[in-house]
Amino acid sequence: MSRSGASSPRSSNPLRDARDRRLNRIAGPSSLVLFGVTGDLARKKLMPAIYDLANRGLLPPSFGLVGFGRRDWSDDEFVAEVKESVTQYARTPFNDAVWEQLSAGIRFVQGTFDDDEAFGALQECLEELDRDRGTRGNHAFYLSIPPDAFEAVCQKLSEHGLAQPDDGQWRRVVIEKPFGHDLESAQELNRIVEEVFPPDAVFRIDHYLGKETVQNILALRFANQLFEPLWNANHVDHVQITMAEDIGIGSRAGYYDGVGAARDVIQNHLLQLLALTAMEEPISFDAEHLRTEKEKVLAAVQLPDDLAGRSARGQYGSGWQGGEHVNGFLEEDGIPADSVTESFAALRLDIHTRRWSGVPFYLRTGKRLGRRVTEIAVVFKRAPNLLFREHDEAAFGQNAVVIRVQPDEGVTIRFGSKVPGTQTEVRDVTMDFGYGHSFTESSPEAYERLILDVLLGEPPLFPRQQEVELSWQILDPFEKYWQSLDGQPETYEPGSWGPASADELLAADGRTWRRP
Ligand code: BG6
Repeated sequence: MSRSGASSPRSSNPLRDARDRRLNRIAGPSSLVLFGVTGDLARKKLMPAIYDLANRGLLPPSFGLVGFGRRDWSDDEFVAEVKESVTQYARTPFNDAVWEQLSAGIRFVQGTFDDDEAFGALQECLEELDRDRGTRGNHAFYLSIPPDAFEAVCQKLSEHGLAQPDDGQWRRVVIEKPFGHDLESAQELNRIVEEVFPPDAVFRIDHYLGKETVQNILALRFANQLFEPLWNANHVDHVQITMAEDIGIGSRAGYYDGVGAARDVIQNHLLQLLALTAMEEPISFDAEHLRTEKEKVLAAVQLPDDLAGRSARGQYGSGWQGGEHVNGFLEEDGIPADSVTESFAALRLDIHTRRWSGVPFYLRTGKRLGRRVTEIAVVFKRAPNLLFREHDEAAFGQNAVVIRVQPDEGVTIRFGSKVPGTQTEVRDVTMDFGYGHSFTESSPEAYERLILDVLLGEPPLFPRQQEVELSWQILDPFEKYWQSLDGQPETYEPGSWGPASADELLAADGRTWRRP
């Protein structure tokens, strides 16, 4: 997607803009302060992504990385921690020269989130980086911490003058989901953050938007003439958006219990995928235009008053998966035996626009399903006059365009073809585009792209508050409905595709889920 501002519809020469967009964008002098350095996200994703950016030459020599946390670490000890996470999880090979340059700008500040002395030390540390490393007063604060700590951190940053840039400098704050628990708490969280940082300094991370294949939805739809004429209720029967994981909740019970699959990934990742799949063409890829179109689609999702038959929920049971015996959801460490939190959720949503009227969007997600796969399947109506009706409908299904988000990134088009021979038989075949076959360069990790965009101040890939609120307005009624049902969500077998009620959700409409 383009850089914000640089490619407004009024901007000069489109050919020159196109050429410029192919050049690598390199961050300017700056530092990133990481709150929550000992968390999984920081160790497995953020620190490796920073190294990968440095290794790809996308960070400036004047770059600082500051860890802020409770551990009693010296700078050197923190450098060793970062090195370990980089050697274990970075995508690109370890390069001594790159590491030497990056690690010279790594610092650690010890303290708790309400500790004035520690924020004083952070201020001094950033001044030292500005002076000795040339970071020029440009600082991003990455809050990889529980949302209930946002208030203390934002206030301390403000009290110590860290949230207010001088002329020619910038300060930004990066927040990770969950953005609240429901509409009301999301509004409250936003109030807290925006009391200190202006809206354009707030970067909300939905890491799905940083994935190459997710950005490619817009290229597929709007850079081609092939798909868009068919992308509407005249030709599309329904859309299935699946985000399946084969893992359980692991050690995340503390976060997951009471949150559940729908709040964890439907409110954000899946509704963003829906918005990108269903939105109208924006007049440019500038943040304002892109976000406005996504918001229009989310606002057009209208729910019936009675939500019975519009959703399914489940919890994985214990059993065998991939040759291993696994715990059921209720036996996981830290999950109460009577927890009603769901590890699987499916919804049917309808978008009330002319383009999508009568085309259901089915969303599903779950832990401990058959395999890890995220895909968007746009399933087309059957040809109006089926000469081949007598043939097996299971072998000859409906045409589909499947955007394979992960792990086997690409796009598949499914259509019918005559089976060679003297008989007249039509069978489904597929035409595949795979990133691995078409491009030599491997895709960057989502966090590489997103951290770079934060440092560059480019907001198109970050949802704004309005999108977050619209997404809660869609999910909150389902959460209320589920609360009103007594008892546990339905159990499903590990390694299966979810509870029977998920199949019933589609069967009621005469449809079936894809088995990716
Ligand atoms: C996170 C969820 O946002 O996304 C996790 O909190 C989930 O529960 C993860 O496992 C999946 O991300 P990815 O990129 O592996 O699909």
